Amino acid sequence: MSVTTNPSAYSLADFLIGESSNPLSPPDDYIRWKAAAEWATSVYEPRLHGPATPRALFAMAGGAPAPCLNFASYNYLGLARHPRCVAAAREALLEYGTGNCGPPMLSGMTELQGQLERELNELLGTEATMVFSSGYGAAVGALSAILRKGDVAIADSRAHMSAVDGVKLSQARLVTFAHNDAGSLASCIEKHKKSRILVIVEGIYSVEGDFAPLAQLLEVTGHYGVPVYLDEAHSILCCGRRGGGVGEQFASSKGAGLRLSTFSKAFAGAGGAVSGDRETLEYMRFYANSYTFSATLPPATLAALIAALHVAVEDSSLRDRLWENAAYFRTQLRTIGVNTGESASYIVPIIIGRDRRLLYELCHAMRRRGLFLPPVDFPVVPEEGLRFRATITAAHTREEMDEALNIIEDTVVPALGKFRGNAGAA
Ligand SMILES: Cc1ncc(COP(=O)(O)O)c(C=O)c1O
Repeated sequence: MSVTTNPSAYSLADFLIGESSNPLSPPDDYIRWKAAAEWATSVYEPRLHGPATPRALFAMAGGAPAPCLNFASYNYLGLARHPRCVAAAREALLEYGTGNCGPPMLSGMTELQGQLERELNELLGTEATMVFSSGYGAAVGALSAILRKGDVAIADSRAHMSAVDGVKLSQARLVTFAHNDAGSLASCIEKHKKSRILVIVEGIYSVEGDFAPLAQLLEVTGHYGVPVYLDEAHSILCCGRRGGGVGEQFASSKGAGLRLSTFSKAFAGAGGAVSGDRETLEYMRFYANSYTFSATLPPATLAALIAALHVAVEDSSLRDRLWENAAYFRTQLRTIGVNTGESASYIVPIIIGRDRRLLYELCHAMRRRGLFLPPVDFPVVPEEGLRFRATITAAHTREEMDEALNIIEDTVVPALGKFRGNAGAA
């Protein structure tokens, strides 16, 4: 079997090892596979013409922009074009210009960045916060700053790549426990209890859409006295009465020593932050290289993030609408016979199985009907769990969701048959 005769038997995981003498030359097999698997690779990096609204203009593979229902955006609270966020960005742009032009350590930290740090502390109930220019950079910087060779990072098996890469960079050992399984976590800690340990979990998992069972996990970590890194990328501003994330929702923030927030999702901007105890963060400022050696966010972005935080904290109706929309969409999908896994949130997987060719054929079929759902392929998800990931926002209307559901019912359901295993799922 070769990469060209049966390209769907291969995935991006197969081309990680270079086989050429020049690191600038991608592997030959990759080049041949990419050409043969154009039906798959062409759906990535679709061009977005205009804002990330529920109806957006997408152009695929060099084609002309076409209107599509957009279920691919993390603009969870619909703040990307909120008048207060846009006005705050515009004002900061006029006052500060386009950039801060250097890392905060040497070139100066704007008062806007200091304000965002303080307001996040207030929201999360933490002593200190550091703002980074991306969520990925925040995770990699924080973990590589505090972990050392000889340490053991015990991560949920579905932990995000940003945490995996942070641990790799630190040279600590990475071990995983079974997804959301407190018993498996306890066994891992028991096995490695002679080492320094950090446990890594997420509030809402980014490709499953399920919550971490925080109370159970924190009971285990509390029992062993090991600290926890809690990634709130998909939960910050969306969970908890004031938007303080799963830490607020499950009243368990005290057990999590470090909290990661990203600003690319409900904040509708870009950047990330790590929050925790003052002493930890004061040390981290000098050892998180993605902070110390990297320029900070532009003032206009910082101003928009502060405005987004204000809007989200003040207006809980956005959260209410997000959760209502998510419940409606999930329930309807389950009713029409779609396998949505364990999703309990606004991240809703549509699980296809192992058939890679079918995944991409369905992606094209839905797009032709005017719906863009991003495919998620191995190695991001297990080989038997290839899927689409629908993300619901507060800005989606009932009509938009119904239109998307009709398209899914006409394409995915006939291809797979009705799934009957959702019974009892929330
Ligand atoms: C769970 C999780 N953590 C961290 C990140 C990184 O965030 P950003 O895209 O803001 O760099 C992401 C991004 O999707 C994520 O899903």
